[in-house]
Amino acid sequence: MTTVRKAVFPVAGLGTRFLPATKAVPKEVLPLVDRPLIQYAIDEAREAGITDFIFVTAKGKSALEDYFDSAPELVRALEEKNKPDLLELIKPAEMPSGAISYLRQQEALGLGHAVWCARHLVGDEPFAVILPDDVIQGEVGCLKQMVEAHDEMGGCIVAAMEVGPESISSYGVIDPASDDGRLVEMRGMVEKPKAADAPSNLAVIGRYILSPRVMKNLSVIKPGANGEIQLTDAIAQEIKIGRPVHGLRFRGERFDCGSKLGYLQATVAFALNRAEFRADMAAFLKKTAAKL
Ligand code: UTP
Repeated sequence: MTTVRKAVFPVAGLGTRFLPATKAVPKEVLPLVDRPLIQYAIDEAREAGITDFIFVTAKGKSALEDYFDSAPELVRALEEKNKPDLLELIKPAEMPSGAISYLRQQEALGLGHAVWCARHLVGDEPFAVILPDDVIQGEVGCLKQMVEAHDEMGGCIVAAMEVGPESISSYGVIDPASDDGRLVEMRGMVEKPKAADAPSNLAVIGRYILSPRVMKNLSVIKPGANGEIQLTDAIAQEIKIGRPVHGLRFRGERFDCGSKLGYLQATVAFALNRAEFRADMAAFLKKTAAKL
């Protein structure tokens, strides 16, 4: 089985659900507690063994590139002030030279199109796609679980999560052929169906391991739901021609940090997960809830 070394991070969307903040700040650099969303995605990718990080960006995303740049003045100032603990905090943003590349999606034509923009950098090997606004909290990173599933099954693996009928129309939804409780063999996939038409309650969220053939499918695919080039359609194409595509019910809790409510919930959950904030945050939440 080929190792998954490369991950594509499509971050060229407009972020309209998070206006007005995203008018000036890319949502990927909004902080959860003290670290930008993108740092959580990078850490998860590293844990899964990813060594090549490919960002598909757009105008207005320079803060994201700056975050991964070296910061010699800041480092010098912290060294002079003898602040080793603060120096430690900025280390995870350091990238070996050449490990990170950026390319532009000139027009926001959809997630599928953004991924396709990275085709030359991905080449002919399986690759991961990570949407950094989907943040997943768990003991073992979601992508690591998916790489393990890919080692078992090959083909394509998508992250799957059960959702209620009220929100199913916001997702790509799995049509299951068989389901062993962990891996779901897929018969098909439908983008943003009405609840009544949804083939299951299993939604696909922002983590994928894809065969390089998906890039080829994307090059011929026509715009689908919302007039966008949908990644879902290119994956569904794989199933149509008989290649294995599985959904993995990952262990962990996913937060949609591209939405204001999801981001607020993630902030609370991640703060409660930090030893230095847990007790004070829990006391504050109890006091606040008592006033409702
Ligand atoms: P979203 O559906 O969250 O869209 O995209 P968005 O534009 O980022 O945000 P809203 O819905 O307007 O608030 C899912 C992922 O796909 C990327 C986004 O950056 C995000 O990581 N994307 C989407 C692109 O890179 N290009 C596109 O044309 C569309």
